[in-house]
Amino acid sequence: MNSAQMNCLHITRLTTVRYLRRTGFIPSSSHLPFSLLDCTVWRPFSVGTTRGFVEHNSCLRVMRDAHPTSARHPVAYIHPFNVKSSFSVLARQNQLSPALAVRARQIAMTGLCHSPRYSVAPMMEVTDRHFRTLSRLISRDAVLYTEMVVDRTLIYNEQLREYALRIPPLPNSSSSQHPVVLQLGGSVPDELEAAARIAAKYGYSEVNLNCGCPSPKVAGKGCFGAALMRAPEVVAEATKKMAAVLPETTPVTVKCRIGVDDLDSYDFLRNFVEIVHQRGGVKHFIIHARKAILGGLSPAQNRSVPPLKYGYVHRLLQDFPDVTFTINGGFKTLSAVQEQLDVGVHGVMVGREVMDKPWHALCDVDRLFFGRNCTPDDGTILTRRGVLRDYTAYAENEIERTGCSIRAVVKPLLQLFHGEPNGKIYRRAIDECLRDPALSVGDIINRASSVLSDDVLDAPPPSAVAHLDKSVADDVQVCAAFEHRQEGL
Ligand SMILES: Cc1cc2nc3c(=O)[nH]c(=O)nc-3n(C[C@H](O)[C@H](O)[C@H](O)COP(=O)(O)O)c2cc1C
Repeated sequence: MNSAQMNCLHITRLTTVRYLRRTGFIPSSSHLPFSLLDCTVWRPFSVGTTRGFVEHNSCLRVMRDAHPTSARHPVAYIHPFNVKSSFSVLARQNQLSPALAVRARQIAMTGLCHSPRYSVAPMMEVTDRHFRTLSRLISRDAVLYTEMVVDRTLIYNEQLREYALRIPPLPNSSSSQHPVVLQLGGSVPDELEAAARIAAKYGYSEVNLNCGCPSPKVAGKGCFGAALMRAPEVVAEATKKMAAVLPETTPVTVKCRIGVDDLDSYDFLRNFVEIVHQRGGVKHFIIHARKAILGGLSPAQNRSVPPLKYGYVHRLLQDFPDVTFTINGGFKTLSAVQEQLDVGVHGVMVGREVMDKPWHALCDVDRLFFGRNCTPDDGTILTRRGVLRDYTAYAENEIERTGCSIRAVVKPLLQLFHGEPNGKIYRRAIDECLRDPALSVGDIINRASSVLSDDVLDAPPPSAVAHLDKSVADDVQVCAAFEHRQEGL
């Protein structure tokens, strides 16, 4: 295959194109940023700022970003059998920068096409589609989780199914809400399998099983949520069945606690992970590092009263070197997140901090944890003025398409200026505007944000002042070297 052939646009499989659109790897407009060769087996991947498609037994074009202008300039061609082995080989041959090599190893281990280094926790009545859109406009790389969706809701309620599962498009952007993880709640393996089958066509990046929820509403119904930790064989059966009906690119993961009630020894947790990993095929566990107390504590107390034991997760890293672990619980600063990554934890999940301070918890994570420069696709610096502009376009579109309420779509914006001068006045202004039915969503956002100063609206993330960090510079060099080598072939 010569490079002229590779530059041809051959897209003969409509299903492939549809799938790529749904998974967000190409925008829904007719413009296709990527040239693809016809292929029967392929797999999208993203490593840092590098995205591409693996074609089984064929050729991989490595692109820098999904940006249309860079699409014509692939940074490398490599010939993998599949993404895991190709990246492993490159890493072994020292052909990847250290930063990219670490990510490559993670991909090889987990089968995940995205990095789990920083994720936003599933939170009922918080991480709905609107909140996730706001989060994605602030961070392109953080992994976003849905609220928990109960399996029976998907099976028996067709109307709610579409509402709960559809991933909305992002405005004015070639990117999408991905990576986004669907969290399912359930206890009967056959029902979880049926729900996963329904979810399969919506293009989620992962499907996660909730084994950590202590709510009596959930845990009380048989073996559900955190109570499932007492039945690792059932969890393993469920995850195996779920994986069988999901595409290979959508792995099944488990979110759990370190224990339940009196079952709180390290050995109990280790046994749970061992069974679910070995029999259920799960390669990625998200561990809320405190136990759940199922009688006597409210869900909110269960998120603060039982002590955090990060040491349990660190021991799991030693005992299961082939498994990926994300740690969760009590992370309030990005430096605390970095400390966990430094000791070898593969990912950190943050919940309440993102809920309370979405800008501060997300605006720097792309650069700090994913090695990305901090400018959005159009080259401008990320600011909350820009986020509000794009979110307004999203909100208008959602209201028109789905008829959702203005209140629901505006809710995620309430915390956007937490701790800033006039932040409370901004919140009150939103509340007052919501009472006036004559105002459109654009009017409400404009009026409320008019109480904020330009300094606040235009403040860049702290990382914006920094230049490209060394790991990114390394990647650019390595990719340039690839290209040079290919030209010489
Ligand atoms: C409002 C709220 C709703 C939550 N809903 C869920 C849920 O649906 N599924 C789940 O696994 N965890 C849920 N959680 C727990 C979080 O995912 C997370 O494990 C917990 O808040 C600890 O992380 P944090 O200390 O960073 O907040 C919820 C937490 C909050 C605050």
